Amino acid sequence: MGTDLTGKTAVVTGANGGLGAHFCRLLAAQGAAVAVTARRIDKIRPLVDEITASGGRATAMALDVSDAAAIGPLLDRVQAELGGLDILVNNAGVGGEGLALDLSIEDFDTTFAVNVRGVFFAAREAAKRMIAAGVEGRILNIASIASHTVLPGLSAYCGSKAAVAMLTRSLAREWARRGLAVNALCPGYIETAINDAWWPTEGGQRQLKGFPRRRLMDASDLDAAFLMLVGPAASAITGSVITIDDGQTLPGGG
Ligand SMILES: NC(=O)c1ccc[n+]([C@@H]2O[C@H](COP(=O)([O-])OP(=O)(O)OC[C@H]3O[C@@H](n4cnc5c(N)ncnc54)[C@H](OP(=O)(O)O)[C@@H]3O)[C@@H](O)[C@H]2O)c1
Repeated sequence: MGTDLTGKTAVVTGANGGLGAHFCRLLAAQGAAVAVTARRIDKIRPLVDEITASGGRATAMALDVSDAAAIGPLLDRVQAELGGLDILVNNAGVGGEGLALDLSIEDFDTTFAVNVRGVFFAAREAAKRMIAAGVEGRILNIASIASHTVLPGLSAYCGSKAAVAMLTRSLAREWARRGLAVNALCPGYIETAINDAWWPTEGGQRQLKGFPRRRLMDASDLDAAFLMLVGPAASAITGSVITIDDGQTLPGGG
């Protein structure tokens, strides 16, 4: 089955760099019109210009996913300006680092406001509009190996990503007969702004040497699974939480 997305419209949250920007390029290359969203619109304009210059269709829109009330109006704008809404990629996320004994209430709340509440309300607002329009919608949540693996020093992040995995399955069940496929991708470690300060440290180097293949992944390692889950191939895939981690979570590191 192909991965062509011509005629589809996609929204990507937190797309001002890292995986989100990569997903926008990938969606546009498959023919989708892409709403590139981020908190700071000035940071996504160059990506929109790049996609447009290479023949794609994209527009920049400001969205803070922790502002639940802003999500519905943003999606209305996407439908009005890009002509539809077929794909939502819930990519925005924060790291939530900090030992549990030290983590502030504010940092815990921010982690859950972005990683969990943002995912839930973006999925719900997108689902309402996809169901009303009668489209074969695709909602893809970017979870993490932290959804099912303990990452030391990241208890809030792990809890939030475990919640994303279970939300994915619960929403998939609720909307199973409404034409929607709701799935999650759990990537292993890929160097982006969320973790780039860690890898040069002694602890980071030790962790890297513990991976079976002694390396980080590249964003492009996610492409095949990503395109499967946002495209026609996902017609019978819903509620799946798929790990793509280069074997990083296999036991017996070192
Ligand atoms: N890199 C990895 O190893 C890895 C592995 C597994 C899962 N993931 C997940 O992949 C997703 C993308 O992360 P990344 O690695 O590409 O890191 P990243 O470059 O830090 O990207 C995270 C994005 O989320 C945005 N964001 C943060 N708070 C937001 C908010 N309130 N509203 C809207 N956007 C917000 C950030 O924008 P600002 O610049 O405005 O903060 C940034 O664009 C995250 O959900 C992350 O948990 C990453």
